[in-house]
Amino acid sequence: MPVVRGKMIETLFSPDVIATRNTEMAAEIVKGRNDDLLVISVLKGSFIFAADLIRAMHHAGLAPEVEFITLSSYGTGTVSRGVKIIKDIDSDPRDRDVLLIDDILESGRTLRFARDLMLERGAKSVSIAVLLDKKVKREVDFEADFVGFECPDYFVVGYGMDVAYAFRELPFVGVVTGDADKV
Ligand code: IMP
Ligand code: MG
Repeated sequence: MPVVRGKMIETLFSPDVIATRNTEMAAEIVKGRNDDLLVISVLKGSFIFAADLIRAMHHAGLAPEVEFITLSSYGTGTVSRGVKIIKDIDSDPRDRDVLLIDDILESGRTLRFARDLMLERGAKSVSIAVLLDKKVKREVDFEADFVGFECPDYFVVGYGMDVAYAFRELPFVGVVTGDADKV
């Protein structure tokens, strides 16, 4: 089992499995609404997935424009939880087919906020691609159009996803199982 920063990391989705699924997802995305497509990567967690998926989309024949938005959840209580824009896109989504790419769909708040924002700004359509779907954690009525994998209810790291900024560089998705010096 890989040890990184003194932690043992168990692999959940290997690089090969992810690459194969990205190719399949790109083939599904080609069949969707993608005239003059604007891809928006929801930072930070999606940066590696988005980088791989847009290249798979190129191989599938798509030529999107690519943008980035940084979103953050605020509030820890159940009442006041919301999403705020840390860094907005620069371009105008009006009359565009938009594809939002994110790492994990969990409560659904982040992506529902992003989809509603783009629709309010006049996007023609908004579809959603996520690498992982943690269905058991959903708190609002929201589903993605393209899902890489159903994710068990673990806190996962790697392939862009972090714990306190660490583990983003891992080429696989994994779970921290414990300290390496305690086995
Ligand atoms: P939600 O759907 O609004 O709850 O937000 C999901 C976001 O929380 C994802 O885009 C991730 O950035 C983050 N997140 C949720 N679960 C995990 C995890 O297991 N590992 C790392 N980040 C996570
Ligand atoms: Mg995220």
